Amino acid sequence: MKTLFKNIKELLQVRDEHTRFVSGKAMAELPTIKNAFLLVENDIIRDFGPMHDCPNDAAVDQVVHAEGKMMLPTWCDSHTHLVYAGNREGEFVDKIKGLSYQEIAEKGGGILNSAKKVQAITESELYKETKNRLDEIIALGTGAVEIKSGYGLTLEAELKMLSVIKRLKENYNLPIKATFLGAHAVPENFKNNKEGYVDYLISEMIPLVAEAKLADFVDVFCETGYFSVEDTHRILEAGKKHGLSAKIHVNQFTAIGGVQAGVANQALSVDHLEEMRDEDIEALKNTSTMPVALPGCSFFLGIPYTPGRKMIDAGLPLAIATDYNPGSSPSGNMNFVVSAACIKMKLTPEEAINAATINGAYAMGLEKQVGSITKGKLANLILTKPIHSYSFIPYSFGNNQIETVYLNGVEVV
Ligand code: NIG
Ligand code: FE
Repeated sequence: MKTLFKNIKELLQVRDEHTRFVSGKAMAELPTIKNAFLLVENDIIRDFGPMHDCPNDAAVDQVVHAEGKMMLPTWCDSHTHLVYAGNREGEFVDKIKGLSYQEIAEKGGGILNSAKKVQAITESELYKETKNRLDEIIALGTGAVEIKSGYGLTLEAELKMLSVIKRLKENYNLPIKATFLGAHAVPENFKNNKEGYVDYLISEMIPLVAEAKLADFVDVFCETGYFSVEDTHRILEAGKKHGLSAKIHVNQFTAIGGVQAGVANQALSVDHLEEMRDEDIEALKNTSTMPVALPGCSFFLGIPYTPGRKMIDAGLPLAIATDYNPGSSPSGNMNFVVSAACIKMKLTPEEAINAATINGAYAMGLEKQVGSITKGKLANLILTKPIHSYSFIPYSFGNNQIETVYLNGVEVV
């Protein structure tokens, strides 16, 4: 099956296969081709270029006329908690009335509230709820996603969450990566015995999850009141021993050395970074660890935005993701995240699009499959409505400029 897209107004994020991610000044460059064609063969981008090199219509099965429209790779959302039960709308109102994230957690809300709900629900109900969210984000242009466990906090409930992710991997034709986040909070039954829970994670849960091949990565919420830097080192080392590389939650509320712990353990990414000291920025220089900002969380909780401008100016790469979860970012809209990165973090549209595509792909180990318009990569593509320039995507915040989404070359939205 061959599909030929013709007269694309501008084809965005055109890269060769050697680009793994972009950093510093290079983030300001978004390579494009104006008045372009793109040829998809089965699930793969086979060819593309300026219209004067366009192949003959007779050689293909289907032609799509894309006059006035932009084409770009689908968004790569490298940090989500898509698997959860119910929601936390009650806490939302508490938050409006002035309670902080920590105060809500102390009142019985927060992660432990979601854990109760996940423990109580059947796997098939949990699958249904999660599937709806996945359909929702695909319609918003996401074509590769990382999904975490971490609302189970018992072996049984964590396995339930990971099994849901496994079923999604089987039933959907987009790349999905699973992350084991058993160290999301200390569960009720280990209250006052955090060490005991960390021991249990290391000796029982991580080996089992890895053995069952239910996770690609391991994660820790390294934060005051949750897991310390020392706990983080221990858990990441255990993950590494079992073949799970690290993607961790650090510096959301306090900077306690989580960035350094991530870098020391060759984390693929360190995520959140709302509180960044100069030494945290220094620690990320010349490493293979991708910093990931989650502006939807800053927006929703009213906490600082990751100093993305400062980090890029210091030469770092940056990825952006939604953090879709019921407590701190109940939205999986990457288009909004791209807008917020521009408006609140002062990224240019080029930088924000790089952060949401090629750098997001790298942050989940998928840079060889997705994240750019590259020959041989998956044909996971967004075709926009007719728009004047790509800056219109972040500019028109909260509106949807997407007309069609293709996964593996097939129109899904
Ligand atoms: O990434 N900070 C830790 N985990 C999630 C929020 C969890 C929750 O509140 O349910 C986050 O923001
Ligand atoms: Fe998160």
